[in-house]
Amino acid sequence: MSRIETLADAFYTELQDIYSAEQQLLKALPRMSKKASCEKLTKALNDHLEQTKNQVERVAQAFEDTGKAAKAKKCEAMAGLIREAEEMMAEEADADVADAILIGLAQKVEHYEIATYGTLCTWAQSLGYSNAKKLLGQNLDEEEKADKLLTTLSKSSNAAANV
Ligand SMILES: [Fe+2]
Ligand SMILES: [Fe+2]
Repeated sequence: MSRIETLADAFYTELQDIYSAEQQLLKALPRMSKKASCEKLTKALNDHLEQTKNQVERVAQAFEDTGKAAKAKKCEAMAGLIREAEEMMAEEADADVADAILIGLAQKVEHYEIATYGTLCTWAQSLGYSNAKKLLGQNLDEEEKADKLLTTLSKSSNAAANV
């Protein structure tokens, strides 16, 4: 393990983490959208999959400001979130309840991404990485919108679920 001495080192490490997290999500999102019953939820998850493809590209471009190679370092937090999601999705549940659970799982993922992009944007600003800040800010914006949409969908899916 190399030593993290500067904020620039920390930024590079964190960028490798989110690069991995987004790549893991590219694989997990199709399984989640397949599990959804509500059409709006399926669409939201599929739309976010398309966004995620662009996000991976933006993260790759954000490495340019660091002057170092774009590479991923396994994000254990995202691996854990996805593992938990797989476990929950394997449970038997009524369709509306399953959708409510799915939304909760997706929102945990969004919140992790929002936290990481928030940190990265603040650090990019401090480091003068203006291009990275712009790119990562776009990703942050998309994650926040995705999270808000999920909250809206959660209200209608909860109303339909057996309470
Ligand atoms: Fe993302
Ligand atoms: Fe996301």
